[in-house]
Formats: sequence, C-alpha cells, structure tokens
Amino acid sequence: MSIQPVYPVDPAFAAHARITAADYTRLYAESLRDPEGFWREVARRLEWMKFPTRIKDTSFAREDFHIRWYADGVLNVAANCLDRHLATRGDKTAIIFEGDDPAESRRISYRELHAEVCQAANALRNLGVRKGDRVAIYLPMIPEAAVAMLACARIGAIHSVVFGGFSPDSLANRISDAQCKLVITSDEGVRGGRKIPLKANVDAALERPGTQSVETVLVVRRTGAAVSMRAPRDRWWHVVCEGQATQCAPEPMGAEDALFILYTSGSTGKPKGVLHSSGGYLVFASYTHECIFDLREDDVYWCTADVGWVTGHSYIVYGPLANGATTLMFEGVPNHPDSSRFWQVIDKHQVTLFYTAPTAIRALMREGDEPVKRTSRASLRLLGSVGEPINPEAWSWYHRVVGDARCPIVDTWWQTETGGILISPLPGASTLKPGSATRPFFGIQPAIVDAEGGVCDGACEGNLVITDSWPGQMRTLWGDHARFIETYFSTYPGTYFTGDGARRDADGDYWITGRVDDVLNVSGHRLGTAEVESALVAHPHVAEAAVVGCVHDIKGQGIYAYVTLIAEIEPSEALRKELIQWVRQEIGPIATPDYLQWAPALPKTRSGKIMRRILRKIAENAPEQLGDISTLADPTVVAGLVEARLIR
Ligand code: PRX
Repeated sequence: MSIQPVYPVDPAFAAHARITAADYTRLYAESLRDPEGFWREVARRLEWMKFPTRIKDTSFAREDFHIRWYADGVLNVAANCLDRHLATRGDKTAIIFEGDDPAESRRISYRELHAEVCQAANALRNLGVRKGDRVAIYLPMIPEAAVAMLACARIGAIHSVVFGGFSPDSLANRISDAQCKLVITSDEGVRGGRKIPLKANVDAALERPGTQSVETVLVVRRTGAAVSMRAPRDRWWHVVCEGQATQCAPEPMGAEDALFILYTSGSTGKPKGVLHSSGGYLVFASYTHECIFDLREDDVYWCTADVGWVTGHSYIVYGPLANGATTLMFEGVPNHPDSSRFWQVIDKHQVTLFYTAPTAIRALMREGDEPVKRTSRASLRLLGSVGEPINPEAWSWYHRVVGDARCPIVDTWWQTETGGILISPLPGASTLKPGSATRPFFGIQPAIVDAEGGVCDGACEGNLVITDSWPGQMRTLWGDHARFIETYFSTYPGTYFTGDGARRDADGDYWITGRVDDVLNVSGHRLGTAEVESALVAHPHVAEAAVVGCVHDIKGQGIYAYVTLIAEIEPSEALRKELIQWVRQEIGPIATPDYLQWAPALPKTRSGKIMRRILRKIAENAPEQLGDISTLADPTVVAGLVEARLIR
C-alpha cells in the first residue's frame, strides 16, 4: 500500500480559527451527551418570534417514528436572512452577482436585498399566494433566484426550485407533483454565451397534463429576447414588483412548517420531493456554514453550485445570508470565456472562501497550471469540495496549484436529504487526507453497517447510516410519507440509510466510496438509472433498456445504456444519435448517455429481473469479474454483450 499523505492543521490558521482541535473534541462529545442543551444554545444564533422550549423530539423507531426540532418555536426564515442584519450590516454587500459575460457584475447590499424581497413578497401576496402554497422557481443563476426564494419564505409559501437545465417534461412532473400555483422564470438564461429558452420551456411544460394548478407565470427579463406572453396567465416580474411597498410583514412560521421542496433522484421511480423545515433547517445550514467555512465578517464567499441543487439552497442562499455573509452568485461556467474564469473571478471580487465540485476541478486540471498561475488568488484562505468523492490527484492539484499549498480544503459530504453538511473537516481542527471527508459534524452519529445491518467497529467498510436525527434533516417526501419511511428507514431499521458506501480508517476518518444503490452521480448531479431507462423506453423503437454507471475521467461517473430495440427495427448510427438526443430532451442535458450499446437481449434472472451487476462489470470493462452467471435465464446473452462492449 502506498503511503498516504496527510496535512496537519496549519498552526497559523488554527491560531485564528473558530474551532480548534480541542474545541472539536469537546463540542462533539457535548453534542452527543446533551443534544437538547447543545442545539438549544446553537438555536440562539437565529432571531425567533418565539424561542422554542421543545428542542429535540425525534425517533427513528418504526412504531414511533417522528422528527421534530424546535417544534414550538416561531420564526421567519427571510427575516433571519435580511431584517436581522439591517441595523449592523445594512450597507454590507449581501450578494455579488457575476454575470456570464465578464463585463457584467453588480453588488446588492442587505438593505437593497431586503427591499427587493419585500416588494416581491407583496407582489406574490397580491397574486393570491398564501402560506403553504407551492411556487416553482425555474430561473438562471441571477439574483432574482435568491429574491424569489426569500420572497416565498417571507410569506410562508413553499418554493420548489427546478434546475434551469431540466427539460419541459421534467419541469412539468415537478410542477404537477407539488401542484404549484405560480411559476417564476425568465425570458432566457445565458451560460457560456449560449441562450437557454426558459420561458418557452415553461410554456411547453404547462401544456402537459397535471399542470393546471398554475394560475400565474412571472417572467424576469434577463436577455430581452422576445417571448410569448399569454394574458392573463403571464406577467412580467418587474411590472408586478414595481411600485410595491419595500416593507412586508414576515409571516410567523412554526419551526416545523415547510420551507421548501427540492426534487432529487432515487433508485426507483420518479424524482422525489424532499421537504425541508424552517427552523431546524436554518439553524443547521447557518451553523455548519459558519463552522466549516470558518466564516469571518469580512469574508467574500463563493459557492459555484446552481440554486437548482441543494448546495445552492443551503450554501449560496440560506446559510450565508442567515450569517450576514457576502455570497457570490455566478451565472456562467468555468471555461467561458476561457478556463481561467474561476480564478479571474476570485481576483476580481477578492474571494476568500471558495467552494466547488470535483468535476469542475478535474476539468480545469486538464487545462494545465497556466490558466491558474496567471492569476493571483492571494485573497483565498480556504477551499471546499462537494458533490462526489474527490480523487486524491484532483485534491492535490486543488491544494497545490489553486490554493498555493496554503489553503485548507474541506471535503464536505452531505445530501439533498440531509439539508446541510454531515461529515467534513473543520479547517482549524482536522488533519486533512486527500479523498477523505474525515469526521462527523457536531451531533452527527454515523455508523458503518454490513449487508445484514450489523454495525462494525473500528476500521471497516460497508454502508453508511446515521443513527440519530439532526436539525437539518428532511421531514418527509412531498405527498408520500410512506415512501419516505420505506426509502430511508427500513433498510436498516432504526437508522437513516444514506445510500452511500463508506470506509472508516484506523484514525476514525470516513472515506465515502459512492452510491450503493441505483443512483448515479454524474458531474456531481444525482440521477436515477430508472429515470434514464424510462426515458429510453418511451421512444417508440425501444423495447427495453438498462442503464448503469461507468468510469468517466471528468464527470466521475458516466451513463452507460444498454438498449434492446423492438423486433422490426435494426440498429444504426442514426438511431443511436437519435436516442441519445431523445434522452436529453426528455430529462435534460445532464442525462445524456455517454455510451449506448445495442443489446439483442438483456441478462435476466429466471424471474425476469435484470442482472445489473453483470451490466456494470461489462461497462467497467471487467468481463473477467462477471462472477456467477449460472442463475441467468439465458447465460449466452452475456458473451455477445461482452464482445460488443464500448469501453476497452
Ligand atoms: O453519493 C454522495 C455524493 O452525492 C450524493 C448526494 O447528492 P445530492 O443529494 O445531489 O447532494 C449533492 C450535494 C450535497 C451523496 O449521496 N456526495 C456528496 N458529497 C460528497 C459525496 N460523495 C463523496 N464525497 C463528498 N464530499
């Protein structure tokens, strides 16, 4: 075994850090010994209309399942992100907007953001949106996305942000599932110089059955492109916001009232609507953000995620704004106009804390050191990684080249379901190991279990579960509480099953090994194999399809599809291209298959179940590891698939 490099805490960093190694040990022990007392104190970081007397009221036991945090507390999330800061930080920059075009950027102070959010909140109220109503947000990375989220939070409407890269069908499914009353979109989006027809996508989505709940579409003018406006449904955002009062009384919300729904992929069926609470979520998002990024008053914080994903919710909008931080929103992509863009933006806005995904790091690493080295990056003091396992080569490049070997890296492990980071180094406390998310955050109790659910101690590898609740945990799946319990709490009863595999080393550090279910992680984006399969079989020429992940240098995981055509159709290059294009249109570009192999038949058990294990091995170019195929109904189909495999 090769010797693994470790990076002890830099004493200079530790000297000014919020949390030192000694603090971590003490606070972690305290958080487990007295969760009530611990999370009561942490909750004081927010401004409550009524401070809770009940703190933790949770049980993962099947017969008594419930998750309630701060249940009798009352607060408003938007007031915590805005009003609370006006006295001391009114003129501080809340949002730095950096456009796709490097010539375009602007700063919005807390006072300005407060006024804009109030106007939008009043506009929504005038349009009949009330507490508990659902609002879909389908916007590019522009400040209006944060304004729209906070305006919903202010009046108690539940937002459902849909990533702007999703197709009209994907958008329609999400609108229909949550029965949204209103949609907020823009004429177009711009990324890497290319236009995305968001309003046209909304128009197409609202043609689909199940979307009649939508009464109003608000359209932000971004590019000025001509779009069809259908009266009385479609209204311009600037017109309805203009003239509204810049004050708006925040709706008093119970801590357990819903803040948002965010759809994410599971191993089966349609995407699931993960529902997050108001109080516990904000306590957890803001506290993790402050501790893990070692936040200081004058930091300029930049997370490159999109608000369409949970990272954008917790660590672009809610965590940073609740903490009164300056958060940067970037509309563009890492390689436009050239692959130096990230580093130029860091210099331009003097970014101190930078948080991105391994897929971006790998793509930029491929461009060499020069695009990085031609920038200064002297403002940086901490780097973060999220979304997928980071390979040690990418970690080392990020550390050495981007961070000039002086910035700690926090490799943060978490999920849409967890609301915030659960396992991560604390920069002033943790010895870093490239590829390891290291230790659990306060109050988080991970365990590693074997296939039968036996908990293993010490150094071992298996499936990752969390044995007790934390405030930021999701509360249910929208409209399907039974599926919530079934998906997360029945595999290993009494624990939350993450769907991830993990290894714990002899020091007690965790290494996430990736999903152990049928969920893919493509460029840090979650995608169910079942979703891609159902898109493929929706094509009239496809009889059957099976999708697995494969190794991809940049994306981490790629999409490998096996397709069986209906009897009278012959495979062709043209059809292969058509099917790949079809999936893009059905789901969105992130679901584009990287490989599509024709399969005269799929390997199945005698009971008709597709043996994905075998298909995975073929896509891994490891036919010698197929294992036992004697249980297949027809073992001969395997040889043909191996022979025709696309990765060698
Ligand atoms: O497999 C894990 C991976 O991303 C999954 C969660 O995806 P999503 O809900 O879209 O949230 C992504 C952003 C939090 C996890 O089940 N994952 C996330 N962060 C890491 C990771 N895998 C390894 N290391 C990480 N730091």
